[in-house]
Amino acid sequence: MNEIKLFSPATVANVSCGFDVMGFCLDNVGDEMVVRKIDKKGIFISRVEGFNLPKEAELNVAGVSALAMYDALDVDFGFEIEIYKNIKPGSGIGSSAASAVGSVFGMNELIGRPFNKTQLTEFALKGEALASKCEHADNLAPALFGGFTLVKSVAPLQILEIPSPDDLYATIIHPQIEIKTSESRAILPNKVPLSKAITQWANLGSLVHALHTSNYDLIKSALTDVVVEPYRSKLIPLFTEVKQASLNAGALGAGISGSGPSIFALSKGLEQANKIKEAMLGVYANSDIDFDIHISKINTEGVKIIA
Ligand code: HSE
Repeated sequence: MNEIKLFSPATVANVSCGFDVMGFCLDNVGDEMVVRKIDKKGIFISRVEGFNLPKEAELNVAGVSALAMYDALDVDFGFEIEIYKNIKPGSGIGSSAASAVGSVFGMNELIGRPFNKTQLTEFALKGEALASKCEHADNLAPALFGGFTLVKSVAPLQILEIPSPDDLYATIIHPQIEIKTSESRAILPNKVPLSKAITQWANLGSLVHALHTSNYDLIKSALTDVVVEPYRSKLIPLFTEVKQASLNAGALGAGISGSGPSIFALSKGLEQANKIKEAMLGVYANSDIDFDIHISKINTEGVKIIA
């Protein structure tokens, strides 16, 4: 096998109470990439479609993660990468993570999988850091492992796979404005009052327990963010209205997807997810901001070969 085509999924990071540690994988939104082995040594990005991104490997997220992995190999060949980008950069659904993950996953498949998923995440962290100026793995881990993941620590990297109820759906609205992760991190305070920290870690522990036990009521009460959302929600037009409309339509919870501007809601069942879609649409339809809405089951597979 000298060439593969792969699907690298979009992801929702933070999941309200798990800033920088929690994330889940979406099933029908993502990038496609072709990775092929070539005789020439090095990493070469031969094609980028969808968005205007650099082709120089060292300036491209997929290229930087590929270079990190390439440096760990001792081979007399190289890799060429084609990127067909569907996830808008700065959308809050893990655009950079999908790029960073796709290249290293593809290369690993072509050389007989010498690296495990945690090691691939390590390489992908370098690409993610190029985009967000910080090594966070809460989009990378669900893109690679699928399902819900918890990043127990970044150094050393430790990722936990968290099971989720079969009937859990996400509805995501993506307003077509760009929020750079680096900028939405810069507005966060360095210190968190102890009372808020207590609320947050109680909710995160509860969310993990609720996912393990398929306890929808507990998911509902755990999906609260008292640390980050109060600051970042100001950057997202109609955030409060979308959140309230989603809750009114039966969402278990709603919050900022990653660093925004996308907003996610979780619900039990597809019918409920569709009602939330209508509610979100009702809020944004009268605005002058373009948007799209996705409904997704939790994708338990993650990045995968499609050809
Ligand atoms: N945890 C990161 C943040 C995710 O919220 O800044 C960025 O997508």
